[in-house]
Amino acid sequence: TEVTYLNYAVLADHGWSLDDDDLFEKAAAADLDAVDYGQFTVDDEQSLLDAAEASGHAWPFACRGGACANCAVAVTDGELSQLVDHILPEELTDEGIRLSCNGKPESDSLEVVYNLEKRDDLADLKL
Ligand code: FES
Repeated sequence: TEVTYLNYAVLADHGWSLDDDDLFEKAAAADLDAVDYGQFTVDDEQSLLDAAEASGHAWPFACRGGACANCAVAVTDGELSQLVDHILPEELTDEGIRLSCNGKPESDSLEVVYNLEKRDDLADLKL
């Protein structure tokens, strides 16, 4: 699965929102650093977080067990499974928010906004 990622921390700098339909088009055109925007591949049986790390990215995490929400991402396109989730309330999963530590892609391509731990409603959840 080919993953395109975007750092939540840059959204405010550009006046972008997670709800923007063309968020990833704008990100692609914005000449962002590789830490903030780019692509990597996730192999079968690899979690999104494991694949990010294998590609040299230091994404936030703590428990790696579905209990802290530090690793939360917003899936804006594609499907990410969620085998273990002890923390996210339904209103966030309904928005497409998933845990990268145990989420595995279920689509050929995926767009995710990582670093969501900076968002207020997720910061409040963290242990
Ligand atoms: Fe704690 Fe994913 S790292 S829920």
